[in-house]
Amino acid sequence: MNKAAIDLSSNDVFNIMKTTRAMRRLKSDPIPDDLVIKILDAGIRAPNGGNHQTWHFVVIKDIAIKKAVQVWYKKAYDKIIGPGYAGSAPPPGSNSDKYHRQHTAVEYLTDHYHEAPVWIVACIKQGKAQPSRMSGASIYPAVQNMLLAARALGLGACLTTRHMFFADEADKALELPPGVLSYAIIPLGYPMGNFGPTGRGKLSDFVSLDRVGNSWDKLD
Ligand SMILES: Cc1cc2nc3c(=O)[nH]c(=O)nc-3n(C[C@H](O)[C@H](O)[C@H](O)COP(=O)(O)O)c2cc1C
Repeated sequence: MNKAAIDLSSNDVFNIMKTTRAMRRLKSDPIPDDLVIKILDAGIRAPNGGNHQTWHFVVIKDIAIKKAVQVWYKKAYDKIIGPGYAGSAPPPGSNSDKYHRQHTAVEYLTDHYHEAPVWIVACIKQGKAQPSRMSGASIYPAVQNMLLAARALGLGACLTTRHMFFADEADKALELPPGVLSYAIIPLGYPMGNFGPTGRGKLSDFVSLDRVGNSWDKLD
């Protein structure tokens, strides 16, 4: 993706998708409730299995709750994510410099997670049903809608799921009632840096025609 080809002020849907990056450095300044409500409204427009809408979104501003969850988010970094970064190679579309910057930003968000003025916690009202491989399919479209809406409104956001390494402890810290499970936490705030294009590999790295491994000559 050529950076020069992207108009960062355009709210064209394709432009928004190409520039909705994980924004991890967020200002602690408050954000207007009407923007948060617009983001939530974009969330509930998403597809969901059978249109059952078993989702629930908790808007968290209470610093005590955010701090209690941050403890588990950081613990997962210290035990699992941090050591993982140390031994891994840059992904497609990245390089060692970019990957190092990503790691630094991941560390920054870990330490400042609770300082984002608003979190949206995306949950499913699971009841007694056991979460399965299909469960997340009915909440992550809503999460992505909210990330795109935040970007369109000039707000920074990041899909985070790391708290789920300590899911029971984090859900307890979130004070979720029995049967309601968290699937993502989206910290929201005005970004410290600028929006820019997402770094990804080429389409041909990820797409085949008819059978896996059979390249499609229309792709670069
Ligand atoms: C399932 C999932 C879980 C993620 N969890 C976290 C997380 O806990 N913390 C975090 O900083 N980023 C998290 N991310 C963001 C990814 O790291 C990010 O999308 C990826 O590095 C690409 O970054 P970019 O969109 O800025 O190019 C998650 C993304 C996905 C799809």
